Formats: sequence, C-alpha cells, structure tokens
Amino acid sequence: MVNEGKKTNMKVRKAVVVAAGRGTRFLPFTKSVPKEMLPLIDKPVIQYAIEEAAACNMDLVVVVTTPDKIALEKYFTRDTELEHILQKTGKDDLLEKIKCLPDLANICFVHQKEQLGLGDAVLTARAVVGEEPFAVILPDDLFEQREGILQKMLDAFHKYQSNIIALRKVDEEEIDRYGVAKVKELTEHICQVLDLVEKPRLADAPSDLAIMGRYILMPDIFEELATTPKGIGGEIQLTDALKRLLSRQSMYGYKIQGEYYDSGTIQGWIEATLALALNHPALSQRLRAYLHYPKS
Ligand code: UTP
Repeated sequence: MVNEGKKTNMKVRKAVVVAAGRGTRFLPFTKSVPKEMLPLIDKPVIQYAIEEAAACNMDLVVVVTTPDKIALEKYFTRDTELEHILQKTGKDDLLEKIKCLPDLANICFVHQKEQLGLGDAVLTARAVVGEEPFAVILPDDLFEQREGILQKMLDAFHKYQSNIIALRKVDEEEIDRYGVAKVKELTEHICQVLDLVEKPRLADAPSDLAIMGRYILMPDIFEELATTPKGIGGEIQLTDALKRLLSRQSMYGYKIQGEYYDSGTIQGWIEATLALALNHPALSQRLRAYLHYPKS
C-alpha cells in the first residue's frame, strides 16, 4: 500500500515521550513521586528516554506529562545553587552530571488533561508535532541494545516512508498482555504489518510478535486517535488507532532482539537495575560477589 499524496524523503525531527500515566503498579511509591523518576542506578527512567531521543538527533522532545508531575520538569531545569555547592566542594564529576541535564535535548512539556490512556497521551502532543512524522518513546520500555533501536527504526522509516512499530517475540504465557501483530516477513529485521490485535488470548494471537514501546508514526495517526472510541480498560488505546490507520496506510515492524525490561512493573524495574549494575564498572565486581554470580 502506498501513502498517497505524501512527500518522499520526509524527516523525523520530533520525539514524543509519554509520561503521564498514573503508575498504579508502583503504588504506594507513585502516590507522590512519578514512576519516571525511579532510579536506574543513578539516573531516573525518564533520562534514558531523553538521551535515546537526543542520540537520534531529534530537534524537539515533547514530554507528555501531568501538572502534578513537577519533579519531571524540575529535573531538567538548571539548579545554580546546587551547581555552586558542588563546585565549592570540588565534586566536579557530580557537577558535570547535573549541569548537562537542561541541555540533553530541546525539551518541551505538554499536559494531558485527563489520564485517558496511551492513545490520548499521544494525541495531546498533536499541536506541537503538527503535520509531520514523529517518534514515540514509552520510557518504561527499556532494551538491552537501547542506543541502536530507535535509530534503526528511523533508518527503516527513511527507506519505507511509512509507519514503523517495534515488535519483539514474547513467550506464550505473556501474549495476552500485549498488542500483537499479524505480519508478512520481508527481511531479517523488517516485516510488513497486516493486522493488529490488542491483548489476544493465546488461541487468537496472530503471531508471537508483540508491540513494544517505540514507534515512528505518520501524522495521520492523530486523526485516527481523535475518533477512536475508548477500548480495553476504558482507555483510548494506541493499538486501536494503529489498526484503523492500517486500513489506509502501510505499516512495518522492526523486530527487536535482545533483552527487554518493563520498568513500569516492580519485577521489570528490579531486573533492569540488576542488568545495568552487573555491567557497571563501579558496581559490578562487588555485586557479582554478593550474588555469587560469575565474574564478567
Ligand atoms: P501504562 O500502561 O504503563 O500505564 O502506560 P500507567 O498508567 O503508566 O501505569 P499503571 O498501569 O497504572 O501501573 C504506558 C505508557 O503510556 C503512558 C504512561 O506514562 C506510559 O509511558 N500513559 C498512559 C500516559 O501518558 N497517559 C495515560 O493516560 C496512560
């Protein structure tokens, strides 16, 4: 299928990071602290998402949040008093770590009015994104090869000039937690998406390829989102809007390999922390000894 009327050689310049969810799976912690501020070693989850967008040279990173998640906005704002204290006490390494935060990317924050789901959160960014293709990053979804994935999806976009979604094989017992794609294999890493099913029972799943939290989307998704009725959980589901978009535009899957962590769950956050710590130059040795884990 062709995207009729669309320009060729479109460029993706903006990334939308969705961070307005309630994070109920982390209650009571998330009663007053956003889950995006959970640390992975010494950086909050949100920083990994911003760094990923910056590594792909995005001109603008749009963070969708809520007015009560003040900590997120404060984190990327300059703190001259803290800088001064660190400078005076000679803590240059820490000074470098905090000074760079406001300059990691050109970030703007938009507020989702009501937490009506991921689809609604993406729609909130419409006015800032405008009529151009854009990337979507779900900060909870962390990948072992995190640097490369979004860039490879952008490369695929440049080739296909159409919607690209991240897919990953998941175990049978987990399939009903995800949006699942029916696909036609094209290359080792790319497939054409033929259909999408949200949270299917194993018997109804069209494949074992689940949608992961990275997307490159055509702006036409906004029209679909604006008219997509509430779906599972009473929320506006991005997968439902993608399914509608599929009837008029082509969509490709980029197949991710390697480990994946859902840091939005307690189990996934612990696993991500452990995986990072086991490979961290300052932490690895003692942690491996403590866990009786093989040396690296
Ligand atoms: P989740 O499905 O993880 O939901 O959202 P959640 O509300 O964040 O967490 P739980 O289920 O209550 O524990 C997937 C992504 O969509 C964003 C979240 O911030 C997360 O990045 N989201 C979800 C929004 O931005 N707004 C929403 O209304 C819902």
